[in-house]
Formats: sequence, structure tokens, C-alpha cells
Amino acid sequence: MRILGIETSCDETAISIIDATGTTPVDFEYKILGQALLSQAELHAPYGGVFPNLAKREHAINLVPILELALREAELYEEGDIDMSAQMEALAQILTREPELYAKLSAFLPRTQKPDIDAIAVTFGPGLEPALWVGINFAKALAHVWGLPLIPVNHMEGHIILSACGEGKSNNQGSKLKDIQFPLLSLLISGGHTELVLSPSWMQYELLGQTRDDAVGEAFDKVARLLDLPYPGGPQISRLAAEARTSALASSTSLPRPMIDSKDFDFSFAGLKTAVRRVVEERAPLSEEIKKDIAREFEDAAADVLVAKTLKAIEAHDVKTVLVGGGVSANTHIRTRLAEAIRDYGYSVQLLIPPPELATDNALMIALAGYFHSVQNAYVLPDNLIAKGNLKLT
Ligand code: KG4
Ligand code: ZN
Repeated sequence: MRILGIETSCDETAISIIDATGTTPVDFEYKILGQALLSQAELHAPYGGVFPNLAKREHAINLVPILELALREAELYEEGDIDMSAQMEALAQILTREPELYAKLSAFLPRTQKPDIDAIAVTFGPGLEPALWVGINFAKALAHVWGLPLIPVNHMEGHIILSACGEGKSNNQGSKLKDIQFPLLSLLISGGHTELVLSPSWMQYELLGQTRDDAVGEAFDKVARLLDLPYPGGPQISRLAAEARTSALASSTSLPRPMIDSKDFDFSFAGLKTAVRRVVEERAPLSEEIKKDIAREFEDAAADVLVAKTLKAIEAHDVKTVLVGGGVSANTHIRTRLAEAIRDYGYSVQLLIPPPELATDNALMIALAGYFHSVQNAYVLPDNLIAKGNLKLT
């Protein structure tokens, strides 16, 4: 079955086309046929975060070119001369609120044959609603014109399923799903989320704990701002922290580990950011060395808390597999610390982390999650597909 996945929940415009078979995690296999992704990070950098209306506009401008790239890579693009006059009115109606997208799509579709795909999966939340809506309306327009069913995908479930599937190299069959033992614990760490989710079985989710204020990625981004580093802050902090470690720079910063000993599985990162602000004020003006020192201590504090809570959840729920997903899982130090902690844990626990380039948002995760919902026939009628900015997993 061929699924076209669309992701526009934040500042990545992405499309991925996969071919997958199997109906259970055990017999599942997939390959990537084609994909394209455009990050808007540089455009949002001057705002120090994602600016929703700019994100929406950029998605609207870029979705059609990204689709064409993905179709061409998949060898599913075929030029045509299609008479769409009967469908133009419906297309205009679906895209009334996306005039730029309508202009591009109404030029693209009449010169493109319907590709050989079976369904369209699209992120419907959580995320920035204006950005989500562009992707949803785009999916509805394609589904209408090509006569394909729609599958709504929860972005966070996408992160989980991608981490569970592993990398499906182009033209290569491959999946690690068959190795998964349950219960499965997912540590979801991104710009909007910090959650520990327990799965007693495949695609069943129980929220164990979450951040009470800022997400860990948000804390990375805010601390980067305090240190005068550009958005997105995660990779910047990570770079400075690594330099502090390799040069064995003496440490003279001490930050709290919020909620590390609390009895629950919740997190809190707002206080950590405030503590950084205080240190920054005390130590201003900041030399490069001071910035490195602060970055290292901040990264250590975040890693300590994430590792401690993950271990606590493993122990409390007799977890057999741990999976990490979301943009912050691209962080080398956090990946290493989790891997060491799980290796040193008394019982054998499998750790699944996607390769760093698949940790941040992409459409492969949406196509994969869409596939697993499609085998359960979880299609949705276009009128019932709406953006849900605060969509939950459970
Ligand atoms: O999953 P994602 O791409 O988008 C959301 O759904 O939020 O995550 C983006 C977040 C940003 O906060 C970014 O700073 C963080 O992931 N991030 C990192 C790293 N790469 C991205 N945080 C720490 N270290 C990194 N290497
Ligand atoms: Zn994400």
C-alpha cells in the first residue's frame, strides 16, 4: 500500500511517499519511495521562535513544489493534460482560505497525472493551527481531485511510530518493529512536548507524565536566546556544550535539576530557564567561555532529569523497550546519557532512537503512522477532518 504523508504542524514543510505491507508490527515492512522537506528555521530565526502566520504562508507557497519533488523522486510523477474544469469549483471551495496554495495547485494538477498512491495521511495536531490547516486543506484538495481516502495523524504518534520503525532506506526493505517487546515506554521530547507515554501493546497509549510548564526543546530554545544564539537553539547549545566538554573547561555554573526526585513522572523546565537567566545576569558580559560553561551545565541538567525520570518509569512499569522521539532526541549528549543509563540498568531493556536526521519533524513519520491507521481502516471524511492544535495522544 502506498501512502503519501504530509507534515505542516510547525516550521517544516514535508512530504513523504512510502510503500508498506503487513498488518501487524511483526509482518510490517516498508520502503521510502520519495520525499522532500523544506525547513523554515532560518526564516523564523529573527523572531526567536516559530511565527505562526509566517509558517502558514511558507507552507502554502512550498507545498506544491515539495509535492512535485517527492513524486518525481518516487517516479510517480507523470505529465498529463487533464481537463479539470468540472473540479475547479470544488478545489476553489476547499482552498478558499489558502489563495496562494490554490494558485499553485490549480496550475499543477491539470498538468499532472493521478499518481499511483492509495491514501493521503496528514498531521491534524498537535501544532500551530494556522500551519496545520494549510496541510489539511492541501490533503483535502488532493484527496478530492485524485479520489483518495484521508487518514488523520497525530504528530506525536508519528514520532513514536517512526522511532519504532527505524530507518527505511530508499529502495531497501527494513523495519525493526518485530523486535519490540511490550510494555513500551516512549520519551517524547520536542519543542512543544515533554512526555513519558506507556504502551502496553502496539498503538495503545497511556500518559505517565508530562511537563507542567515549558517543553525541554522550548527550554533549549529560550536558553539559546539568553546566550544570544540563533533559533533553533538545541543544536547551538549542544555545540557549545560539546566544546566545553572536549576542552575540559572548568565548570563554575550550577543549575537546579527540577523535579528530579518528585514521586511522579512529570517534568518542569521553566525554573531551569529562569535559573539560567539569573546566571546570565550575574555573569554578564558573557564571554564565549562563559557561554560554553552555561550551555554544558544546562544540557547536563536537562539530561539528568530526562534520564532519571525515564529510569523511574522503566522500573515502575517493568518496561522492556524504550523509544525516544521528537527533535530533542537529535541531541548527542542526551542520546549518549540515555544509552549509558539503559545499558547499566540491571535488566535488559531495548533502546530505540531514530537517526538524528529523522528525530526532527518530517513526513516519513506521518506516512508511517498513517499506514498503521489505514490498515485499521481509520479513514476520515473530509468534513470531519479539522486541525486540533492541542490534540492529545490519550
Ligand atoms: O520535533 P521537533 O522538530 O518539532 C516539534 O514538534 O516541536 O522539535 C524541535 C525542537 C526545538 O526546540 C529544537 O531546539 C530541538 O527540537 N532540537 C534540539 C536539537 N535539535 C533540535 N534540542 C537539543 N539538541 C539538539 N541537537
Ligand atoms: Zn515534532
